[in-house]
Amino acid sequence: MDYKQISTEIYNDVLAGENLGSLPSYIPELASVSKDKFGVFFFGLKEESFGIGDYQEKFSIQSIAKVLSMSLAYRELGADIWNRVNVEPSGTSFNSLVQLETDAGIPRNPLINAGAIVVCDILLSLFNDAPERFLNFVRHLANNSNIDYSKRIAESEKSVGYRNYALCYYLKSLGNIHNSPEEVLDFYFNLCSIEMTCEELAYTFSFLANDGITLHDNKTVLNNSFAKRVNAIMQTCGFYDESGEFAFRVGLPGKSGVGGGIAAVMPDHYSIVVWSPSLNAKGNSYRGMKFLEDFTTRTKISVF
Ligand code: DON
Repeated sequence: MDYKQISTEIYNDVLAGENLGSLPSYIPELASVSKDKFGVFFFGLKEESFGIGDYQEKFSIQSIAKVLSMSLAYRELGADIWNRVNVEPSGTSFNSLVQLETDAGIPRNPLINAGAIVVCDILLSLFNDAPERFLNFVRHLANNSNIDYSKRIAESEKSVGYRNYALCYYLKSLGNIHNSPEEVLDFYFNLCSIEMTCEELAYTFSFLANDGITLHDNKTVLNNSFAKRVNAIMQTCGFYDESGEFAFRVGLPGKSGVGGGIAAVMPDHYSIVVWSPSLNAKGNSYRGMKFLEDFTTRTKISVF
């Protein structure tokens, strides 16, 4: 199958269509990115890899990083991680506070903000240099030692991150944050600030298409069962209250971020990243969703 030709046709169709939605005004640094950016990178395990459009431009990966922090914490802690965070879709927005009270401070899953904040706390308890350890973990997955946190974006979010403060302090009051909330939030804002290109991010996610094994050095990052479960959590929880819709329209495990990126994997075949900053009402990239829907429709390959 000619993935590149199909992707180019879809890219041009989506580019010619509407670009609905808006930029995330609640993070000043993200609100100033051009809505017209649009990049795609396909990383094939066996097929040829290729990029289209703005695929070599860095963007803020935001919540997509939560898949990587969950992977590191899961690998280090094993199944005990599920005592601190659940694996159920929340059906609520990514920054919702409502379920924490009835769920006694156990977030529904590691991909909503509350769950990712608990994962940061877990990593801080596991390592005395957690932000550095995490960055090195990501650099290994990316096979790129230049990947970094963006101080500019982290500080921009921190300056207005009131909901995340609320989540973290509420979790602390319910006993599910063990370190200082300030330290946990600083790590969380840094995690979300990582910048990558579509190309870098697609390669970073390729281990999840490859049973948890990195392709450049053949290291088992997650065993087969853990990799399967991380993909299952992406499938059920990767798009917050639009996770059902993404499964319905696209049918791949994936994860979105408010920087407009979406990373998705087709196990044993490929990883793919689409970036277009304009977000729909649920906080997911409008064009990213559209591109991936057409991509799995036209290639006739998905997990379903
Ligand atoms: O905490 C936040 O609100 C952002 N740093 C991350 C949110 C995000 O990417 C949700 N994605 N759709």
